[in-house]
Amino acid sequence: MRGTSSFLIVANRLPVDRVGEKQWRRSPGGLVTAIAPVMQRRDGAWLGWHGAAGEELKPFDHDGMHLIPVPLSQLEVEFYYEGFSNATLWPLYHDVVATPVYSRVLWDAYKAVNDRFARAAADAAAPGAVVWIQDYQLQLVPAMLRKLRPDLKIGFFLHIPFPPAELFWQLPWRKEILEGLLGADLVGFQRPGGASNFVRLARRVLNLPASRNEIQVDDRIVRAEAYPISVDFGSLDQLVREPHIMTRAKEIRAELGNPDHVLLGVDRLDYTKGIGQRLKAYGELLAEGRIEPGEAVFVQIATPTRERVEEYIRLRNDIELQVGRLNGEYGLFGWSPINYMHQSYNREELAALYCAADVMVVTPLRDGMNLVAKEYVACRHDLRGALVLSEFAGAADELKHAYMVNPYDIDGMKRAMMTAMHEPPHELGRRMRSLRRRVATHDVDRWASDFLKDLEA
Ligand code: ADP
Ligand code: G6P
Repeated sequence: MRGTSSFLIVANRLPVDRVGEKQWRRSPGGLVTAIAPVMQRRDGAWLGWHGAAGEELKPFDHDGMHLIPVPLSQLEVEFYYEGFSNATLWPLYHDVVATPVYSRVLWDAYKAVNDRFARAAADAAAPGAVVWIQDYQLQLVPAMLRKLRPDLKIGFFLHIPFPPAELFWQLPWRKEILEGLLGADLVGFQRPGGASNFVRLARRVLNLPASRNEIQVDDRIVRAEAYPISVDFGSLDQLVREPHIMTRAKEIRAELGNPDHVLLGVDRLDYTKGIGQRLKAYGELLAEGRIEPGEAVFVQIATPTRERVEEYIRLRNDIELQVGRLNGEYGLFGWSPINYMHQSYNREELAALYCAADVMVVTPLRDGMNLVAKEYVACRHDLRGALVLSEFAGAADELKHAYMVNPYDIDGMKRAMMTAMHEPPHELGRRMRSLRRRVATHDVDRWASDFLKDLEA
């Protein structure tokens, strides 16, 4: 029996969050915004885990999207999601900034869950359908699915960096992962470097004939290309032109005590984001008196994430200790140099925060793209505001007029923050105009349509 979906997205997570017992709401974020319209146009379906352990749900429709939940047991959440995906692959693919865990038990769970996703996709896809598999949690699905359904067009996009051969080589299952990805017709990466790492590894590990961006697998050609993901520029730009967002931005600044400078960080509380490094740089500026008492507030939004994984528990303790110390040491009655929030926010509140911030500080040690940087740019039609950006974010390839930093270089970050805080308006405007031009012309819609055009070519 064949399914009926002619366009299928396969991702670890469904694009909805549960509100209360039985209700769902579309999850925020660029991927959903980009893909939802394509799904609506093409009779699409989205296959993914709904976020709760040990619960089986029937397929359902939401917001014009057909959603097919894939269940995960408690143990699979632990071994496949928290384990192999987020304690093995995540740190390995992010330059081993934390030590990856290599465990056969975790690998077995990863294989079993990938197999479940592949079977579910094979059941849902119509003859000749286009199936687009997303991200590092599902790298075995392309080959598994091709075996079950050779009639399908299979695309894969990796949202995180694909590591250099020297690091990927550590993985005891390097051969299986490469073979898994090579089940796709087109493998997409954030940066050209990721695509060439992949081609080089296919050549070295599997001895496959390959050119710059094509790999020969049996009688097929697999293409590897870069498609930098982006944000929905138009809708963010429109949102921040609404008066209530500007009112809220002013309110936020007032609530912070109307300091001369508001610096902002918005990240999942992840060790790849360089939160500790940026707070260290800011702390030294306070210690040296280069930022005076009351002059600035650093707002750090740290979204809760993967809270049962050991490295994340450790990171949270470290960051909260660091924030507590800096506030304790330099704060005054009525002024804390850091405003730290371990919470989620809705799109409007985030947009207001971006508008309230003079300096957006994005300093990952390694990041596939970093959408926060592009969201900030999309929200600054006033041409004010400065973006401090790590060279190690994928976004650095495109956002060349940001204040670039190496997050390992604390003195360099201090200099960049100071420059950004004191830059004259005409220079801020010049830089922001160029950043906005790039994001406006390379938005998320273009990302999705470029990828799908190439997949279907
Ligand atoms: P990552 O995918 O590693 O989390 P990105 O910067 O690429 O990093 O994407 C993060 C996304 O999550 C952005 O769209 C951002 O707006 C959103 N986000 C980050 N923090 C919050 C928060 N506290 N509340 C709501 N959304 C958030
Ligand atoms: C990154 C990954 C996504 C993941 C997201 C949130 O953006 O590339 O695949 O969905 O982080 O992480 P979570 O573990 O909560 O799904």
